[in-house]
Amino acid sequence: MLENWILTILVSVGVGSVLFMVALFVLLKNNVHAKIFWNEIVLEKITNFVMDQSKEQRILNSVSYNAVKGDPESVLDCIDKYCSQKEWAMNVGDEKGLILDNVVKEADPTTALELGTYCGYSAIRIARLLKPKAHLFSIEFNPEFVPIAKEIIEIAGLSDKVTILEGHAQDIIPQLKSKYDVDTLDFVFLDHWKERYAPDTILLEECGLLRKGSILLADNIIYPGAPEFLEYIRNHKRFECTNYPSHLEYMKVEDAMEKAVYLG
Ligand SMILES: C[S@@+](CC[C@H](N)C(=O)[O-])C[C@H]1O[C@@H](n2cnc3c(N)ncnc32)[C@H](O)[C@@H]1O
Repeated sequence: MLENWILTILVSVGVGSVLFMVALFVLLKNNVHAKIFWNEIVLEKITNFVMDQSKEQRILNSVSYNAVKGDPESVLDCIDKYCSQKEWAMNVGDEKGLILDNVVKEADPTTALELGTYCGYSAIRIARLLKPKAHLFSIEFNPEFVPIAKEIIEIAGLSDKVTILEGHAQDIIPQLKSKYDVDTLDFVFLDHWKERYAPDTILLEECGLLRKGSILLADNIIYPGAPEFLEYIRNHKRFECTNYPSHLEYMKVEDAMEKAVYLG
């Protein structure tokens, strides 16, 4: 009698575990939120604990071992490979990166600003296209990411083209003219937390940093989305907007970028 009980419990636990694994597999395959939660919260935290280092340090290690020093393309390839094959990370990525490249070429900026440096991937994409004497300022508030981005940009050979400013975008934007000698911005890449896109765009205008023809490009317009920003730029005649449909970095999930040309 007792053995039957034990057998029933064991079979139930076994069947339950299999059903749970199947449900988890289906959820992770079909739901982008679940996939990112699983990658970023569960897998990443376990790997960080086991390896005693962050994902961003692992990205830096991969670049240090595999990329060719002084060759931005090889650094970008290395990050794209690592993040598509090993660990997902929030770089703009290779697909949307091509849109970014085209808009940077169109803007041909002398002074560019990026909001959200992370590991320096998009900073490298932008900086490698800058003409001589042009400069990119990139703002990042996470003190753990700043030294990693600086090292990756150094490996790409672009340190003289990029200045990373550590702090909150909303605190640094008002200092750009007085402290960093910026007159106006020719190009701005918005890729920090999405709820800051609208207020920081307004701040850029209020601080007199936009001139007629300044080009803004915003990432993640669909995923995770920046509805306040879209509403703001699309409803103001001062901006001329273009949407570029694409996919979330390293995933088959719909996303888009939005370009907004400031008409003054
Ligand atoms: C999506 S990642 C940037 C990815 C990077 N542009 C790339 O494609 O390689 C967003 C980054 O913005 C930073 N961030 C978010 N809100 C910020 C703010 N208000 N000021 C400065 N940095 C911010 C985050 O710490 C994070 O590193």
